[in-house]
Amino acid sequence: MLTFALPTGRSVYDCIELLDQAGLPVEKLKKPGRNLVIEEGNFRYLLAKPMDVPAMVHYGAADLALAGSDVIEESGVALAELLDTQRGKCTMAIAGPPEAALKFNGHISRLMGLRVATKYVNVAAKTFASWGVQIKILKLNGSVELAPALKLCDCIFDIVQTGNTLRANGLSVIKETAPVSLRLVAGVGAVQTRWNAMFGVVEAIGGCAVRGAGN
Ligand code: PRP
Repeated sequence: MLTFALPTGRSVYDCIELLDQAGLPVEKLKKPGRNLVIEEGNFRYLLAKPMDVPAMVHYGAADLALAGSDVIEESGVALAELLDTQRGKCTMAIAGPPEAALKFNGHISRLMGLRVATKYVNVAAKTFASWGVQIKILKLNGSVELAPALKLCDCIFDIVQTGNTLRANGLSVIKETAPVSLRLVAGVGAVQTRWNAMFGVVEAIGGCAVRGAGN
């Protein structure tokens, strides 16, 4: 039995499609109801909040996981990254109202003390620090696009996929900072102790990951 952690939310559809194409059993996974643990064939699937998926494999609760590169970087935990699936693609970006965009047009010093709302506090601080800019971070757990309209921040640091949420809230991308995609990851210990059990699955997912990565 292999335990596989998967993110809930929009990424779960990309995950199920990929696992299905790789020949893993996913019929129950397609209709999980309120179940967070689903057993099918030789697999146990754990459905976790995206931000919690890296910890599931890092601490050994799961052997394998599909996790966004955004949450992997934010978590900062040690993981074995086995492959980039090229699925679930989106972009990490700074976004805001027009007045925030103006600040980014000037000298970098104008960004000092910028108030940034985000779920990704570590990645945001690291990104701005790499430009020599110290920011004030407002940690939110979701609906980050609300914050500029409420004057809680100058701009946001978040993932953008279709851009619909930004547009609906009068915001636009100011600067894209990193591409994001779903990665197949394993715990460092699990790779050492369970590689024989994992190998076939990793190969099957790798074989179809890039093929059909149209999103
Ligand atoms: C993510 C992200 C944006 C939105 C971007 O949030 O934080 O809010 O998706 O997607 P779009 O560009 O296609 O509109 P999610 O829907 O995962 O929910 P959350 O705000 O509760 O985190």
